Amino acid sequence: SPAALERAESLIAITPDFPSPGVLFRDIGPLLTDADALATVTHALAAPFEGGFDLVAGVEARGFLLAGAVAATAGTGLLPIRKAGKTPRPTASVDYALEYGVATIEAAGDLTGRRVLLVDDVLATGGTLVAAISLVEQLGGTVTGVAVVLELSDLGGRRRLPQARAVFTA
Ligand code: PRP
Ligand code: MG
Repeated sequence: SPAALERAESLIAITPDFPSPGVLFRDIGPLLTDADALATVTHALAAPFEGGFDLVAGVEARGFLLAGAVAATAGTGLLPIRKAGKTPRPTASVDYALEYGVATIEAAGDLTGRRVLLVDDVLATGGTLVAAISLVEQLGGTVTGVAVVLELSDLGGRRRLPQARAVFTA
């Protein structure tokens, strides 16, 4: 319900000047520890894509939390997309830009014929989710949805991911 969503949004904690001066850090931690808020947000992530996916993927680390919750609720499988060096024989690997430097995500497996809902906590520049889409495609899967808890609208991710659905926007 709108009231439940509004309550969940109020549980996102805002800390100025973290992790560096001038940054307004939004932490979904208090939302995750609240049972009603977690259930509300989990449902809101999946609802626009209901029936359109049979696998949920999330990027290490915070994406795992939401992907696990959505997969359990939707009754689908779960694909953890890992940061570099954690997958024994990766069959797909994508480098992407961070604010400072680069990162790599990896996974293994055959996703031929799988319809994948990608979920993450935050859409900022979009680098993480654009890389994750490319990774799923390298594995033979099709990304049929992208869902995040919170979109930070100043950071341009929307331009790179026009299809993304955000539960909350800041
Ligand atoms: C954070 C966040 C998103 C990403 C968003 O992850 O969890 O995955 O940044 O930023 P982007 O849209 O600019 O890519 P981060 O890599 O900091 O690590 P974590 O999930 O392990 O905390
Ligand atoms: Mg992350």
